[in-house]
Amino acid sequence: MDVLVNQGHSVSTEPFDDQKPGTSGLRKKVARFQEKHYVENFIQSIFDTLPELAGGSLVIGGDGRYFNDQAIQTIIQVVVANGVEKLIIGKDGLLSTPAAAHLIRHTNSDAGIILSASHNPGGPEGDFGIKLNMKNGGPSPQSITDAIYENTKSVRTFKKIDCHSVDLASTGQTQVGPALVEVIDPVQDYADLMETQFDFDAIRQMPVRGIRMVFDAMSAVTGPYACEIFENRLGFPSGTVINAQPLKDFGGGHPDPNPVHAHELFDRMMSEGSPEFGAASDGDGDRNLIVGRSCPVSPSDSLALLAANAHLVPAFSKGLAGIARSMPTSSAVDRVAEKLGVPLHVTPTGWKFFGNLMDAGLVNLCGEESAGTGGAHVREKDGIWAVLFWLNILAVTSKSVQDIMTDHWQTFGRTFYQRHDFEGLDETRASEFFSALEKEAGNLVGRGVDGLTVVSTEVFEYKDPTTNEIANNQGVQLFLDGHSRLVFRLSGTGTTGATLRVYLERLETRPEAFSTDVADSLSGLTKLYQELLNLKHSLGVTEPTTVV
Ligand code: G1P
Ligand code: ZN
Repeated sequence: MDVLVNQGHSVSTEPFDDQKPGTSGLRKKVARFQEKHYVENFIQSIFDTLPELAGGSLVIGGDGRYFNDQAIQTIIQVVVANGVEKLIIGKDGLLSTPAAAHLIRHTNSDAGIILSASHNPGGPEGDFGIKLNMKNGGPSPQSITDAIYENTKSVRTFKKIDCHSVDLASTGQTQVGPALVEVIDPVQDYADLMETQFDFDAIRQMPVRGIRMVFDAMSAVTGPYACEIFENRLGFPSGTVINAQPLKDFGGGHPDPNPVHAHELFDRMMSEGSPEFGAASDGDGDRNLIVGRSCPVSPSDSLALLAANAHLVPAFSKGLAGIARSMPTSSAVDRVAEKLGVPLHVTPTGWKFFGNLMDAGLVNLCGEESAGTGGAHVREKDGIWAVLFWLNILAVTSKSVQDIMTDHWQTFGRTFYQRHDFEGLDETRASEFFSALEKEAGNLVGRGVDGLTVVSTEVFEYKDPTTNEIANNQGVQLFLDGHSRLVFRLSGTGTTGATLRVYLERLETRPEAFSTDVADSLSGLTKLYQELLNLKHSLGVTEPTTVV
């Protein structure tokens, strides 16, 4: 059926002043995206910036949150009018971020548009987002997002065809004027890819041996992926995946897989008779949480452990080319890289900085403290991939999560780690505070409390070794004596006010102290930053709103 009504025309529009992509795409309240021409302007700016996308093919899908369907229909109208000849769209408009990244590569498409605000809440009052991914499957680099933003400031017309809604409820092909729209099963190709990465036969023995797992899809996009992979292909019993149905508002929850928001999973794993292995992913499926029986694993530790055990999984049969971590991620993985003699790269926050390193073959394992881990199989972090990586290691070592972590700490020491978020701050005040901190950080050298002293400071700047592009002002680091560090940065993903993130880490090498409570272990650092920053005076706050 041809759904085209009108071949395409130009529509006059007025620019919006807030279409600057942040750490991970353009993210705003749903209501902002619903404003007339808001989506159209942004999509047109992508094509004005990258006219070479005309004539090519595009992958489109999202995490299923509120407004996903309408946004996709609008995007179809604008991209077809701009000359895209083939659109590959996930059934029901669904594609997890890593599955979309894979599909771009697998189908040799030219780019992808992913609709998601990741772990931010959904629903009419919640958040929405648009991300542009490139031919390599990964997020568009800073130079492109900057150019798109420049364009949004002056866009005066967009192109659009008029057509009926394209049916996304069943797989198949539809002609929309000159463009072919193919609606595909969002899960199949991704699940097939996972089978090439890990030893599924070894993992299949886990349920046979009576090992139980629980995976919390948090009513977000990974439900169908997890059911297919963990239950259908690996044989974990039905019910292993909880909150498996993607909901437009994620059931009212906050789909961020951390101990605060994934508390259903967390409580279960901390209770008597819990399954042996627990995991969760976020709104769009790129984050992961790993938790053993009474043993939460911090994302930074998870990265270090995966690096140390990568030789056990097929994905790394050719070895580790290099490892990259974002600057605020703990240095636990640095010690593994050093022991293995593997190069380590430290990048600014955000997955977009890893893509070039992977394309150049410099790294094939990357991670962030914010529950992101991924390999070179796609150019995004990948929640289910990280969970399978863990399962593969547990299957071939026959160890528990607790044992494998304890063994790891015995070898490398334990890096205690926490992030304190101060959310909902006044934007002007926060940015003034932060600029002052950047300028005056150096004056903090020599300051300290309770024997913890600031030894050196740095405003993090990154030079991409593949492009020589510089990203400056990427956070403030305070290095303290005794292998401790404090990092401060402002979030680039929030939609309401500003968020100050404070990252704390401390290396502990005494085995008898490995079981200390994390907050207790970091109490000195907590006291130190509170005293140094004097947040009550500078920002009118005292306690973090979230601690993860
Ligand atoms: C946050 C995380 C960052 C991650 C990003 C997208 O960004 O801190 O590691 O890449 O979400 O998932 P932030 O809000 O800190 O800018
Ligand atoms: Zn995400």
